[in-house]
Amino acid sequence: MVFPVPEAWAERAHMDAAGYEAAWKRVQADPEGFWKEVAGRLDWIKAPTKIKDVSYAKEDFHIRWFEDGVLNVSANCLDRHLPTRADDVAFIWEGDNPAQSRKITYREAHEEVCRMANVLKSRGVAKGDRVTIYLPMIPEAAYAMLACARIGAVHSVVFGGFSPDSLAGRIQDCDSRLVITADEGLRGGKVVPLMRNVAAALEDCPGVDTVLVVSRTGADVPMKAGRDIPYGPERAAAGVDCAPEPMNAEDPLFILYTSGSTGKPKGVLHTTGGYAVWASWTHELVFDYRPGEIYWCTADVGWVTGHSYIVYGPLANAATSVIFEGVPNYPTSSRFWEVIDKHQVEIFYTAPTALRALMREGEAPVQRTSRKSLRLLGSVGEPINPEAWLWYHRVVGEGRCPIVDTWWQTETGACLVSPLPGATALKPGSATKPLPGVYLQLVDAEGKVLDGATSGNLCITDSWPGQMRTVYGDHQRFFDTYFSTYPGKYFTGDGCRRDEDGYYWITGRVDDVINVSGHRMGTAEIESALVGHHDVAEAAVVGFPHDIKGQGIYAYVTLKADVQPTENLRKDLVLWVRQEIGPFAAPDAIQWAPGLPKTRSGKIMRRILRKVAENDLGNLGDTSTLADPAVVDDLVKNRIGR
Ligand code: WTA
Repeated sequence: MVFPVPEAWAERAHMDAAGYEAAWKRVQADPEGFWKEVAGRLDWIKAPTKIKDVSYAKEDFHIRWFEDGVLNVSANCLDRHLPTRADDVAFIWEGDNPAQSRKITYREAHEEVCRMANVLKSRGVAKGDRVTIYLPMIPEAAYAMLACARIGAVHSVVFGGFSPDSLAGRIQDCDSRLVITADEGLRGGKVVPLMRNVAAALEDCPGVDTVLVVSRTGADVPMKAGRDIPYGPERAAAGVDCAPEPMNAEDPLFILYTSGSTGKPKGVLHTTGGYAVWASWTHELVFDYRPGEIYWCTADVGWVTGHSYIVYGPLANAATSVIFEGVPNYPTSSRFWEVIDKHQVEIFYTAPTALRALMREGEAPVQRTSRKSLRLLGSVGEPINPEAWLWYHRVVGEGRCPIVDTWWQTETGACLVSPLPGATALKPGSATKPLPGVYLQLVDAEGKVLDGATSGNLCITDSWPGQMRTVYGDHQRFFDTYFSTYPGKYFTGDGCRRDEDGYYWITGRVDDVINVSGHRMGTAEIESALVGHHDVAEAAVVGFPHDIKGQGIYAYVTLKADVQPTENLRKDLVLWVRQEIGPFAAPDAIQWAPGLPKTRSGKIMRRILRKVAENDLGNLGDTSTLADPAVVDDLVKNRIGR
C-alpha cells in the first residue's frame, strides 16, 4: 500500500521530490559545500571554515564538524528572533489539569532564560560545568536547558520517572555540583515526588552543593538548609540580561544518559554546532516547518526527542512549541485531541505506544473532537505497526495528513531516516528513506555488505553533523560500542529490511536493548536490579511482543536455595525494580527458573529465553550444546501463559 505525496504538500514543501534528488546529488558531489550551506541556517559569531573532519578508523578515531566555528545555541534559539518575532509565542504550556495553560512569547522566554542563567552563575556554575536537570514538563525545564547552553554549562536532563538510585548514578557519573528540580511533578492527576527523590539521591552524591527547587505544586517539601534553594526568590532577584557565552562548535552542549546492551547507562555527549545544525535542519525538513505554525511533540524533555524536537530544533526555527505536562488518557482518552483543538495544533508528533493505547479505546474519543487544524502527523521511538499507522492516518488525520515515521536514536542527535511530507510517498510501517547525506548500509552478522532488497543489520558508513561525539568520560567505550562490530562503520544496533523500492523498514533492536512503551532500556540494567534483591541468585531479562507497549519485560529469576517462590515475592520483585530503576521498568512477567540455559562455558543462551518468552516453541534451535539441556524443558513447561 502506497500513499502518494499530496499535491498541495509538493507545492508548499521546503523540499519536494526533485529537491530531495538534487540535495542527494549535491551532497555527494560537494559534501563540504553542502554542509557549509546547511550550517549557514544558524547565526555564527564566527562562521566555520573547516567543515568536516572525521575518521571512524581505530588508529585515528575522531569526529569533528564545523570545528573552527563559534556560536551560542541559546542565542540561536532566542536572541536572534527578538528583532522580528519577540511577540511570537515560543511555548504553549498545557498543564496536566486541562484548566491550566499559558503562552510564553520569545521575549518572555528570553528573559526567563537570562534570569535562570544569572542564577546559575551566581551559584558558581561556569562554562564546562555539568548541571543535572530533574524537572517535570513545565517551561522551566526548557529554560534550564537553554540557560545552561547560554553560559556554556553542560546539561544532563534526567527523566522525572527515574528513581533516586538512577538519578544518583547519573549525577555521579558526570559529577554535577548543581541540580535543578521541582517540589513535585503532576502527571495524570498523580503527584511525582521529585524533591523527595532528589533528597534521597543526594545521600550518595556528596559532590552536589546546590539544589534549585522550582515551585510547581507549592507542596511543603523538606529542604536542607544551605543546599536546597527555592528558585522563585532567586529568579525574582536575578537580572533579565545575560550575555551568551561564545562557544566553539565542538564544545559540549549536553549529556543524555541512554541504555546499551551492557553495563551502566552511557552518557551520550552532543556538542554545540553540529547538533544545533542537525536539530534545526531536520525539524524544518521533516515537519516542513515555517514560523508561526503550531507544533506539538508529546515526548518528555527527559528523552532525546524532547531535547531535539520540543526545545532545540523548534526554537532554532522560531517555532511555537507545545509543552504538555500530562498524559494521553487523563482526564479522558480524548485529551490529545482536545489539546489539538484548544491550541489549534497543525503538526503533531507522538509515539506508537500512545497510539496503540488510544486505539484500544475505539474511535469515539477521537471523533468527539474536531482536529481540523491538523495538517501533518509524526511518529517516533519504535517501529509503528501498519495497523496503528492506518488508524492514525484514517481516524486521527481523517486521511488528509501525511505521517512522517522518523527513525533515529539518542546517539544520532535527531532524525536520520524519515519521509519528507512534500517529497516521499508513504508506506505504512516504513520510515522510508534516509535524509540527504545519511549513508545507510545493511550488513550480515559477519559484516558482509548486502545489496538490493534484503534484511540485515543497519549501519551508517559516514558521519552527519548531529552524531554523538563521545561517551562522557569513556571515549574507548564510545568506539567499542559503535565502531568495533563492523570496522569503519557506525553500527546502530537495529535490524532493518530494505524493499525493492529502496524503502527502509526498521525491525527493532538486534542487541540486548529493549524498547518498552518507547522507553529504551538495557536488559542488563533490569537484571542487575533483580540480582540486587536479597532473595535472588540469578536473573535473565528479555523482551517479548506486547500489544500496547511494543515490547514487554520478561524476567527469568533463579531464587537462592532456601527461598520459596510465592506470589508475594513476585509482587515484591516487581516493586523492587520499580524502586531501583523507575516505574516504567517494572517486569510484565516473572518466571521462576530453577536454572538458566547456559553453554558449557557459562554463557546464557538468550536466544532460547527470547523464544520461550515469545511462545515461539517450534523454533528453539539447537539446545544440545547447553550444559544442561533439561533446563529448557522446565522453562517451556513453566512459561507464563499469554
Ligand atoms: C527505535 C529515540 C522504528 C530504534 C528517538 C532505535 C525506531 C531506538 C524509530 C532509539 C522508528 C526510534 N521506527 N524504530 N521510527 N525511532 N526507534 O535512543 O530501535 O530512545 O535504535 O531514541 O528506538 O531509541 P532512543
